[in-house]
Amino acid sequence: MTPEITIMREELPPMRPPRRHLLSIEDLTRDDVERLLATARSFDQASQRELKKLPTLRGRTVVNLFFESSTRTSSSFELAAKRLSADVMSIKAAGSSVDKGESLKDTALTLNAYDPDVIVIRHAAIGAPQLVAAVTGAHVVNAGDGKHQHPTQALLDLYTIQQELGRIEGVHVAIVGDVLHSRVARSDIQALVLCGARVTLVGPPTLIPRGIEAMGCEVSADIGAIADADVVYVLRMQRERMLEGANYVPSLREYTARWGVTPERLRPGQKVMHPGPMNRGVEIDPRVADSPDALIEAQVRAGLVVRMAVLYDLLTHGPVGVPVEAAMEVA
Ligand code: CP
Repeated sequence: MTPEITIMREELPPMRPPRRHLLSIEDLTRDDVERLLATARSFDQASQRELKKLPTLRGRTVVNLFFESSTRTSSSFELAAKRLSADVMSIKAAGSSVDKGESLKDTALTLNAYDPDVIVIRHAAIGAPQLVAAVTGAHVVNAGDGKHQHPTQALLDLYTIQQELGRIEGVHVAIVGDVLHSRVARSDIQALVLCGARVTLVGPPTLIPRGIEAMGCEVSADIGAIADADVVYVLRMQRERMLEGANYVPSLREYTARWGVTPERLRPGQKVMHPGPMNRGVEIDPRVADSPDALIEAQVRAGLVVRMAVLYDLLTHGPVGVPVEAAMEVA
């Protein structure tokens, strides 16, 4: 007879909550977005203090894995994790064993051996973050996968609009340029529509995906359509993602002449955003980029507190709009 084994409850390993990831804006409800933006506001207040570091994620490990170049996203995730007192490892493809032919799966399994709590990944291949989520035990954050998704960019853009205009609901955003190759555009359209904004896409028909109106936005090939927008969101011409030999526009000079965002095409007070990096003189006139109505530096600042909020939310299931003092007490 098999002896009965009784396991006392206290002998069981502590139940780990199911892992949550941030892979796509599609995974979020409006409540999720509002909770994340409220948490980011709390961290924004904490960042005004002389001593900016919080003990919130002490003992946690965040791995930043960047297989594509980045300035804003990689630096803000690293600083966000450090501001929350997590241990941080930042790995870029160049100089890692990826150079020797190691696959994404093997790189992820190798890093998983350190038992990281969060892996932040940017990769040129659509679905790379899902693969990392499948083979590791970490919460995974998509920091940009090909032309698919860049959810934290969309959240920081919403945060910037809310801080500047006091609301997102009912705001009219014109997104101008290369929508076809833009993960930022796809994520922003989903997030803005989810939160009740109106979105108009403006650009050459060759750079606007057919049928994109199904996402709840309007489309125009006429740059004049930016006139009644509250926010003009300028996209970079992503030459590195364009098919070789494909003629999306006759020339960059022609693109600039027809769709470049210049002071002459804007109303006073219209806000201008750009995810960066900018091609000054191509999609955006330098006078626009440097004008007081440009929110481009505010977007970068928002990136830090929004990414702090994302790390905090994934690791603590934090309460809505947690006050800074309460956040500091969460070990
Ligand atoms: N907006 C953005 O993703 O910028 P980086 O490529 O510099 O991270």
